[in-house]
Amino acid sequence: MRTIYAFLLGIIMVFAIGCEKEKKVSNQLEYNIEELLSKMTLEEKIGQLNLRGTSSRAKTLSEELKQKVREGKVGALLNVMNKEYVDELQRIAVEESPNKIPLIFSRDVIHGFKTIFPIPLGMAASWDEEVAKNSSRVAAIEASSFGIRWTFAPMLDIAKDARWGRIAESPGEDPYLASQLARAYVEGFQGDSLSDPTSLIACAKHFIGYGAAIGGRDYNTAIISKEQLHNTYLPPFESAFKAGAQTVMTSFNEVNGIPASGDKELLTNILRKRLKFDGFVVSDWNSVTEMVAHGYAEDEKQAAEKAIDAGLNMEMTSKSYEDNAKELLKENKLSINQIDNMVRDILRVKFRMGLFKTPYRNKNKDVEIYSSKHLELAKEAAIKSSVLLKNENNVLPLNKKTKVLIVGPLANKPREQLGTWTFDGDKEHTVTPVASFEKNNANFEFIEGLTYSRDTNKKYFKEVLTKASNADVVLFIGGEEAILSGEAHSRANINLPGAQEELIKELAKIKKPVILIIMAGRPITLQNIKSKVDVILMTWHPGTMGGDAIYDILFGIKEPKGRLPITWPKVAGQLPLYYNHKNTGRPASSKEYVHIDSIPIGAWQSSLGNTSHYLDVGYEPEYPFGFGLGYTSFEYSNLKLSTTSLTDDNNIIASIDITNTGERAGEELVQLYIQDVAGNITRPVKELKGYKRISLKSKEKQKVTFEITVDDLKYYNNELKYGVEKGKFNIWIGANSASKVKEKFVYE
Ligand code: BGC
Repeated sequence: MRTIYAFLLGIIMVFAIGCEKEKKVSNQLEYNIEELLSKMTLEEKIGQLNLRGTSSRAKTLSEELKQKVREGKVGALLNVMNKEYVDELQRIAVEESPNKIPLIFSRDVIHGFKTIFPIPLGMAASWDEEVAKNSSRVAAIEASSFGIRWTFAPMLDIAKDARWGRIAESPGEDPYLASQLARAYVEGFQGDSLSDPTSLIACAKHFIGYGAAIGGRDYNTAIISKEQLHNTYLPPFESAFKAGAQTVMTSFNEVNGIPASGDKELLTNILRKRLKFDGFVVSDWNSVTEMVAHGYAEDEKQAAEKAIDAGLNMEMTSKSYEDNAKELLKENKLSINQIDNMVRDILRVKFRMGLFKTPYRNKNKDVEIYSSKHLELAKEAAIKSSVLLKNENNVLPLNKKTKVLIVGPLANKPREQLGTWTFDGDKEHTVTPVASFEKNNANFEFIEGLTYSRDTNKKYFKEVLTKASNADVVLFIGGEEAILSGEAHSRANINLPGAQEELIKELAKIKKPVILIIMAGRPITLQNIKSKVDVILMTWHPGTMGGDAIYDILFGIKEPKGRLPITWPKVAGQLPLYYNHKNTGRPASSKEYVHIDSIPIGAWQSSLGNTSHYLDVGYEPEYPFGFGLGYTSFEYSNLKLSTTSLTDDNNIIASIDITNTGERAGEELVQLYIQDVAGNITRPVKELKGYKRISLKSKEKQKVTFEITVDDLKYYNNELKYGVEKGKFNIWIGANSASKVKEKFVYE
């Protein structure tokens, strides 16, 4: 007995010492901040609030910029891509500036630095946190060798509208999946310790609601109810902060009438008080001064006042703080305490990054850019991100002897397959599908047919068709060039651009199997061509190793493993479209679907019998959220709950048997969805609450279990009360969000 007591006491003591140590570290940190702050002049304090940009193409380092750094008037820099300039600017900051405060160098390192991984929407299709973490670790290792210690990633905007160009950068439509990925990205970027020279501090962006831009038009207004804000848009950010993300970027858009950069409720009450964030907030590019155009500030001075008052620490590129903060203080519109608080948060992060001790970039010669390990991880990510949407008659995998005609504007475009935000990836290192076929001595011929994705010139069509008739299969690799998605690149029609559809239709007439590979920044509507092709493989913009990944998938060396992180629409007119919608009083159903052509001419005007659907395209998507095929098939059976009554201290174990019914070994992503049948406010028709990846040999069967707790069911109501009411719930376990395998339970 005595030994047990001694043991317990020991544990308590270790815990207490641990807590004390933590307190001391934090006290020491806060002490260092106060000491430094007390020595700083007002100019220097305002200086820390400035993020100054330079063009990444700048050939020389301007004397003006050096002088500003020397005077302590810059807190951080973005896009300084010449290593010598980085070293020189940091030297000036830590040797010549009044208080020797180091700079932070930043950059948009979004899905890789040199070694480019699939675009974030593609990474989300992997549903694999390990893959996400590896990608951001690789990016951090490579970028930090250039002096970059701060990335403007991860982008965590929930996006439900594929017209929005930035859906390419998003984690998709689901807050649960996005939250898992958010944590992984932050852990990868920041590494084990913020003071490690390969650590990049993460920036959760864009705070908030940028993905809810009306009509999917970039920068557009967002209208988001309180419950949606807290149940859908905030959770990925919350997860990033829990993982330790040190910075957050405000979004360009307004939400419910207030631009994010001037929203005090958001930046102070929600961010600092509820989410306990103690890093710093950076604006987006000119988003402070853009509040004038929004109609929220009369001029830049008022914009600065509102942004500082809201709690925005650092202004990116625009100069409203630099130009106006002093005067605003003099006029008592701002207090010195507010400025001090802004500076404290920035210094806190700089101390945590160890910049006062190790300000210079990681010059370790061992850092290999494009190392074989990095390339291997990028290839794995591309395989795990690729979603097989259709595989009629098991055309895939191909036999090595098959004679393939490769066609299409993206089959051999090293730059385009990297996707949006890839300033640093070199096309010389990129492996295209054609390059991979060549390298592997595959039996193939290649003719582009169309020279870029928007090309409408049909002059090569005849030649393409002649070659196609000599091949066994046609492999069409098309989609969107990189520039057609990303910031400020929204589209109203989201079909294959240019004459791609026409070429596919012509190819279909040859009666050879047609494989369509799409490289794009968003789902592409397929109504005109879906029936013309046998295979559809979505590879998004797959990055540096896309070609090798595609080769391995096509020839069955690997199976495609991605599952859709967004609902795939039939037509753009359905957007925004998402699986976790509310039900309406007249939910759509196949029984009550009225098609436009079934309405009698001159019919009496009546809504009876009609439900919440479109007369022409119905209510279903092209492919549901979570969908994706592999090279084998799985059967789900025997869904069982350990109890049908969930209580506060009695969880439910849900189990299901999954059998690989095909001839190949394969992986399955098993997904759990739950519906709260009736709540204090209406609840989504279903919500993702868990997923597990399993590998099964042919004919093998495995039981998969999920534990369901009351916490899994909680949500915010309109009064922002977080909880759940007792009552009925539905549960599904299946291969995607449209799964019909269902059970019920009650929370008592
Ligand atoms: C984008 C941000 C990005 C910033 C810096 C802005 O236009 O919205 O996401 O981090 O530029 O490049």
